[in-house]
Amino acid sequence: MPGLFDPLALKGVTLRNRIAVPPMCQYMADEGRATDWHRVHYGSLARGGAGLVVVEATAVSPEGRITWADLGLWNDAQAAALEPVVAGIRSAGAVAGLQIGHAGRKASANRPWEGDDHIPLGQPNAWETLAPSAAAFGKGLDRVPRAMTLEDIRRVQADTVAAAVRARDLGFQWLQLHMAHGYLAQAFFSPLVNARTDAYGGSAENRARFLLETFRAVREVWPEDRVLNVRLGVVEFHGDDEAMFLESVDLLNRMKDGGLDFVDVSMGFNTPDAQIPWGPGMLLPHARRIREATGLPVGTSWNLSRDAREADALLREGQLDLYTLGRPFLDDPHWPFHAARELGLEDAAARTLPPPYAHWIARYR
Ligand code: FNR
Repeated sequence: MPGLFDPLALKGVTLRNRIAVPPMCQYMADEGRATDWHRVHYGSLARGGAGLVVVEATAVSPEGRITWADLGLWNDAQAAALEPVVAGIRSAGAVAGLQIGHAGRKASANRPWEGDDHIPLGQPNAWETLAPSAAAFGKGLDRVPRAMTLEDIRRVQADTVAAAVRARDLGFQWLQLHMAHGYLAQAFFSPLVNARTDAYGGSAENRARFLLETFRAVREVWPEDRVLNVRLGVVEFHGDDEAMFLESVDLLNRMKDGGLDFVDVSMGFNTPDAQIPWGPGMLLPHARRIREATGLPVGTSWNLSRDAREADALLREGQLDLYTLGRPFLDDPHWPFHAARELGLEDAAARTLPPPYAHWIARYR
């Protein structure tokens, strides 16, 4: 099986290696538009040598932002502001990915370092939140959302398609639909949140409907030769985990039939009461099972090892197809170079870093 520094080819997209940076919100946007912060941040990550850099959760509708400082992609000015971000990633040799989503009942919060909690309605930067049902998340995110009408559902799906079209036209080659972490799509999927009695709630089939319809609508506008990926929470760590896992497998297999290319295996985060077993590589068993049960290439994150040999071994053993590190990249954007050196790769610097860095690092030790 291929290792960390073997390319990954999916559809018409080839990653130079199997190292990925997952979406990580920066909460530094200006009315949904990318700023200098994003241009420097994403360029630096790509220059560090990752094969794939996925730009943070980008809201498809204004009320779908987690915070007022999230990126958005519901207008042309926001698309224009992302152009240099895409260019910066691509010119550094990485594939540019984008995650799009809607935060549902977790929207309208303060930035993490300013409280991470809901902003009361009536205050600046607060807006009405939407969800499958009118129930709050709790623990600081305690505002009760409005239960979505069928019209709301159609509108958010149309917004998602419109954002996908803008992402396509911007030249993103990898699109990730955010269907994890207790945001809108994941909330529709979860019986812990979704108490609807119409076609979008109740049975597993009905709870999957919003996700499947949205996926299919996006696939219609997303080019055949580019990667369409979902990030799905397949486990809640809250009671009936096996049922959720099996429902996830079924949903992913149906998406696979509809043209899904890759799965990022993650968690539900639908309730503050989950008993999450935080620890090294805690989702690896779930990722491996999803890979086996769907036959799709997978990645996962959450406390994967920063040790290059362990990373390489996980890929060679066929447990993962992509090695995704989040916080380690904030700590060390040049992790791919350090990993290549650790693995004893010839030309480690030239294979991972741009010439203005690699030349000097290789020359002087
Ligand atoms: C995240 N995470 C995240 N996930 C996601 O799907 N969309 C997002 O926009 C964000 N935003 C975000 C911001 C920041 C600052 C962090 C640290 C994390 C989760 C992230 O993609 C990843 O799954 C976790 O960080 C776990 O991986 P590590 O950090 O243990 O390697």
